[in-house]
Amino acid sequence: MCGIMGFSGNLKKEQESSVDVVLNGLKSLEYRGYDSSGIAYYDNDDRVIKYIKKSGKLTNLSNEFSCITPLNSDAAIGHIRWATHGRPTDENAHPHIDCTGDIAIVHNGIIENYVVLKNKLIKKGHKFTTETDSEVIAHLIEDYINNGKSFYEAVRLSSLELLGAFAILALNAGEKSIAAVKFGPPLVLAQKDNNIYVASDISPLIEYTNDVIYLKNSEIAYFHYGNLEITTFKGKKINKTTTKIDWDASRAAKSGFSHFMQKEIYEQPARLLDAFSSRVMYNDGMKDNVVNINKIKIQRNALGSNENTQNSFNEVFAGAGLKISLEGLKLTKNDVLNSSKIVFIACGSSYYASLAIKYMMEMICGLPVIVGYGSEFRYENFPVSQNDIFVGISQSGETADTNSALEVAKAKRAKILSITNVPGSQITGLSNKGVIYTHAGPEIGVASTKAFTTQLLCGLLLALYIREKSGFIPQYRWFNSQNIFKDLVELPKKMEKILFIDETLKDIAKKYYKSSNFLYLGRGILYPIALEGALKLKEISYIHAEGYPAGEMKHGPIALVDENMPVLFLLSNNMLASKTISNIEEIKARGGRIIAVADYEPEIDGLSDLIRIPETLEVLSPILYTLPLQLFAYHIAALKGTDIDQPRNLAKSVTVE
Ligand code: G6P
Repeated sequence: MCGIMGFSGNLKKEQESSVDVVLNGLKSLEYRGYDSSGIAYYDNDDRVIKYIKKSGKLTNLSNEFSCITPLNSDAAIGHIRWATHGRPTDENAHPHIDCTGDIAIVHNGIIENYVVLKNKLIKKGHKFTTETDSEVIAHLIEDYINNGKSFYEAVRLSSLELLGAFAILALNAGEKSIAAVKFGPPLVLAQKDNNIYVASDISPLIEYTNDVIYLKNSEIAYFHYGNLEITTFKGKKINKTTTKIDWDASRAAKSGFSHFMQKEIYEQPARLLDAFSSRVMYNDGMKDNVVNINKIKIQRNALGSNENTQNSFNEVFAGAGLKISLEGLKLTKNDVLNSSKIVFIACGSSYYASLAIKYMMEMICGLPVIVGYGSEFRYENFPVSQNDIFVGISQSGETADTNSALEVAKAKRAKILSITNVPGSQITGLSNKGVIYTHAGPEIGVASTKAFTTQLLCGLLLALYIREKSGFIPQYRWFNSQNIFKDLVELPKKMEKILFIDETLKDIAKKYYKSSNFLYLGRGILYPIALEGALKLKEISYIHAEGYPAGEMKHGPIALVDENMPVLFLLSNNMLASKTISNIEEIKARGGRIIAVADYEPEIDGLSDLIRIPETLEVLSPILYTLPLQLFAYHIAALKGTDIDQPRNLAKSVTVE
């Protein structure tokens, strides 16, 4: 995945140029790729396009630009790269320039037919200088201009020739204008006064305005200064509506934390509250009202102690009958009653969230749930019926594997809904049965944290919603909105308690950060959390870690255990506790070093480390158990000195298959 940003405007501030705006925007997009970057700008004094591109981190590029300021430029396009075609060298970095030097382009995506187009253009005399698929776009546009087309027409006709996935920004010297083309990867526009901004996502834009325009597939925005025109690839003009974004620009800053990841871990109690507080309703006998979380707190404080929480809760909502309200969800009672199965599709951490949600769904609704990797599902012969409900989970909403798999299901007329963090992202357009937003706010750290826990919460709300709609009463009769909500309101406080033991986790991390391998084991609903904990460690510390169901350990991974192998157990005081303790004994007998995360004081000798966390309902426990694992991975990575927010080889979301 790559990130692109463009700007055309009338800057009033002295010393500020379009390059500053684009560089600043690329900083917010750096999570999308960080192996090289570049900016092309129109130089107002020399009346030509100039550019700089550099391999390595964005700082390499900003250092280059710092030597040539002040710049006089009103229009620029920039790119941050995660290499697919061509090594991450200076040459292969974007922008790419045509033969005349009058056209510069940046591209996010893949041009599948670039070889055919390139050969055709080479025969016509075009000179290529890079190994990328993207360079062909600049020459194709140039070719149309050579044949008498205007810049806009040349871009439009080129777009019709390209196959694959592309979000393109093209800058033209003659008209000082920018064309933004979308087919696949996202593009969002924003306008403030005479300034027009375009970017791969909203994070660079919210600093200027909260009103944005999402381009749809097969649309082109063409702009210079304050003039903006949007058309389809067929050239039909369209009026687009703006969407108001409730993200706050300050959330995209580190705010005193050492890393975005650390900040995002610490934000989780607040984001969890954001994700559920407006979605639980009660009926006062007259109408449905949003539950006022503060009211519960006030009552609790008045009553003085935590033991009285239940009383307080019952006093506020005695017999009220709580209901889940998921704005924008169009799943009807018939959809639910007729459904034969629910299928979750996701990748990475979102896949592990889906696995945990499977347990929640089965406990709460008693409906069978299947979870598939986007990359696998698309090519399986999985039977899909129009009664199936597909749920895509994706933080970014633009993971190509997830979205392609959902497209396959949609083509077979399945019902599609999604859980995502990014308003207007590609997955939302696929979701004919609506979207549940996680309300996690911008997540900049590449390793997912707050997006993951809010996904878990949204999955839980979806399970309660489906149960309400269907009237199913599975064997877990007790798991209804009323009972779960009592514990849910306590969850942000319990998460804070875990954040209070951060120093302890850091001390534990000091004992283990030199290990080369880790095993993470859990059972039942905590098994997916073991997988996620191991993934966090791998992603940011580069230590090999494997997540496994604790009961399966004896069928293989136990062979790996010796005195050098730390084994992290997720232990909960439930009906599987004694079985997990037996697994711990098996590790002890083989000399392994055992770290246990537990919501009670287990009676076991010989634990190397015990991380005690508060107790909650089993169905909510994945949310709590995730936090110490995030902090543990964070501290290990910090001790190893890795690049925590931008781990090597990874990108925040992958928009290519
Ligand atoms: C990438 C990221 C992972 C993320 C996955 C899915 O691989 O490195 O952290 O979990 O994509 O992303 P999504 O945006 O679909 O949740």
